[in-house]
Amino acid sequence: MSYLPAPHGGSLIQAYEPSYNVSAIEKELEIDAIALSDLELIGVGLFSPLTGFIGKSDYESVVEQMRLADGTVWSVPVTLPVSPSFAENLTEGEQIKLTHKGEVYGVITVSEWYEPDLQKEAREVYKTEELAHPGVKRLFERGPVYLAGETVLVKHPQKGVFGDVWLKPKETRALFEENGWKTVVGFQTRNPIHRAHEYIQKAALETVDGLFVNPLVGETKSDDISADVRLKSYRVLLENYYPTERVQLGVYPAAMRYAGPREAIFHAIARKNFGCTHFIVGRDHAGVGDYYGTYDAQHIFSEFTEEELGIKPLFFEHSFYCKKCEGMASDKTCPHGKEDRVILSGTKVREMLRAGQLPPSTFSRKEVVEVLIEGIRQEAAI
Ligand code: ADX
Repeated sequence: MSYLPAPHGGSLIQAYEPSYNVSAIEKELEIDAIALSDLELIGVGLFSPLTGFIGKSDYESVVEQMRLADGTVWSVPVTLPVSPSFAENLTEGEQIKLTHKGEVYGVITVSEWYEPDLQKEAREVYKTEELAHPGVKRLFERGPVYLAGETVLVKHPQKGVFGDVWLKPKETRALFEENGWKTVVGFQTRNPIHRAHEYIQKAALETVDGLFVNPLVGETKSDDISADVRLKSYRVLLENYYPTERVQLGVYPAAMRYAGPREAIFHAIARKNFGCTHFIVGRDHAGVGDYYGTYDAQHIFSEFTEEELGIKPLFFEHSFYCKKCEGMASDKTCPHGKEDRVILSGTKVREMLRAGQLPPSTFSRKEVVEVLIEGIRQEAAI
């Protein structure tokens, strides 16, 4: 018997068919990197129960109520934007090859196409219509018509340096079972892992059997540290500071939406599909700028029951190193003042790294910092 949660909606969607005959399909649609990653994640079941890009009734229901039309919890629309001219010549039921940089990665069977209310989507999903928000900017840039239909993934995008750590939900589930883990906590990050991340991961691991370190490596905003460099830093951190038998590293090749609270739910559901029983939500999860309150991404979980979500969030307060405590702590556990706390913003740290300066070891492990500085230096030289 398995202790792992059932996939969202009941079963793991498997829509990967490498031998699918695409030669008979003439029509092509060139898709962007975000749609390509969505196509792949639908194909491997990470977005279960989605079987393709969502249609109008699901879309409206997700935007307004954070649920698919059948009531299943779903907080971020997964849609395929196309141009109005492309939409003019569509026929219901036709098949279209989905290409990226000219290569075929999948096929969509058109069920419908519709004009979304992008302003409303921005307001509801991102809580702002400001173009300064990277998710909103992308939303408005991507297109005024959404194409919906079931998809088949016929080829996986190249994973490059992520090859051995791109584990599909079927594989992670098997691994967790093999390890005998009855409880597994998933950890999302789009950043290098700093001491505060390590602290909340290990605090969580004190109460569960396994930790799934699951960094997002799809599209992020341009000033986030590149996924290739981050991956090296995760490897060195895990080698030096983590118990290998209780930790699994695997990437999450999704695009970052920066949708804060809504994305926290979305992230939790994908981790449930990976087989996690628990999911870490710390401060300003998936946030950007000042668009969300520090703990909004925790509060949103109270809008759903544990049963309908099927994965248990583990909430953490803003954590930091306290010089007086001589250790990692949070407001919950530390009585000292701001002056004793080592708190650096992500922007500040990126600036330091780019200038070749070492953030203190109370903020980030030395081995991690060295890898980051070297990686950033090499990328700048290219
Ligand atoms: S995110 O966009 O992927 O959420 P980030 O990589 O910064 O951003 O955070 C990864 C996870 O760690 C999130 O759950 C976030 O809330 C949490 N987190 C980040 N920094 C801290 C901190 N100092 N204290 C507590 N939780 C944190």
